[in-house]
Amino acid sequence: MDAEIQKALNEHIKEELNAEHHYLATAAYLDGLSLEGMSQWMRAQAREEHDHAMRIFDFVLHRGGRVDLKGVDAPRAGFDSPLEAFQHALAGERKVTAQINELYELATSRKDHATRVMLEWFITEQVEEEDTMQTIVDQLEMAGSDSAAMLMMDQRLGERAAAP
Ligand SMILES: [Fe+2]
Ligand SMILES: [Fe+2]
Repeated sequence: MDAEIQKALNEHIKEELNAEHHYLATAAYLDGLSLEGMSQWMRAQAREEHDHAMRIFDFVLHRGGRVDLKGVDAPRAGFDSPLEAFQHALAGERKVTAQINELYELATSRKDHATRVMLEWFITEQVEEEDTMQTIVDQLEMAGSDSAAMLMMDQRLGERAAAP
């Protein structure tokens, strides 16, 4: 496969694994606040990011390319509040969206249709991820310092995480 595309895909495998680690760190932070539903939700997100990394990992291998793992960056360990943790997650998702868009533009300019089609799944997925994260941020802002509202959200997010 095209050397520049292979390099960019390998860099993106790292970004998805970074996201996995960020969500695991956030899950640990939320668990520390006894927000176990939110922590479970973040663990489910981490598993999704792992699956995203493996999608590209397998794609590179199926194309006869070389997987070149970079190692992951240390994630941020703490936040000021659950709201800040989810705001940080939303910013991270927006960054990933921008990276996917750049990859798509590269694949288009190189006429690499297989990579372009593979990336279309990610473009759709990112719309979903940003929307979900934005909704949680909005609701946490509404909840403010109301602990009853916070506990209700914790329960609801925990239920979603437990769904198959
Ligand atoms: Fe992802
Ligand atoms: Fe994501």
